[in-house]
Amino acid sequence: MKFFLDTANIEEIKKANDMGIICGVTTNPSLIAKSGRPVEEVVKEIADIVDGPISGEVDAFTLDSEGMIKEGRVIASWHKNMVVKLPTTQEGLKACRVLTSEGIKTNLTLIFSTSQALLAAKAGATYVSPFVGRLDDISTHGVALVEEIAEIFDYYGIESEIIAASIRSSMHVIECAKAGAHIATVPYKIIEQMLKHPLTDEGIKKFQNDSLK
Ligand code: G3P
Repeated sequence: MKFFLDTANIEEIKKANDMGIICGVTTNPSLIAKSGRPVEEVVKEIADIVDGPISGEVDAFTLDSEGMIKEGRVIASWHKNMVVKLPTTQEGLKACRVLTSEGIKTNLTLIFSTSQALLAAKAGATYVSPFVGRLDDISTHGVALVEEIAEIFDYYGIESEIIAASIRSSMHVIECAKAGAHIATVPYKIIEQMLKHPLTDEGIKKFQNDSLK
């Protein structure tokens, strides 16, 4: 499974990239707003740091396919690695079809059902993003959605890659890996959780103490 970082925080992206563990970045309007900078400026800076797919989302107020297509073409022009993130709606699917036919990569986001994932794949989505944590929030098993999508994509040889998104814990990452997600996009704090083990820290201390004797 590949890891993307789900953030627009440049320092976190640099730290994860330096460790050699991420091969892409996803952003969304909430994450861009947190950065307090214009989307184009942030996303271009990210693309200069990470040599892999960088998802930039269309404006949250753009709900028609014409607008999404127009914005998607601009986003795609920012860098060769740009992926246009679109909402999984009727208009989003229409925009996906057109952008895909122009060779532009897309990430269909806000996926909460297997049927949405199947339709996104049909429309030509490069990536589909089921939101695991937000389903858990409403007492629905988010990982089960990833598992079902992965099983069906595998059965039919569907090429769209599954990005497990809305990841809230390191256990989510492991469960999504077991469920067959191609990618997990994670906040930086999840990378820290995945890396940290008290026995590793204790072991380093013991080696240091023994070296001094
Ligand atoms: O990739 C989607 C992600 O940013 C949403 O995460 O924690 O806001 O549900 P969350």
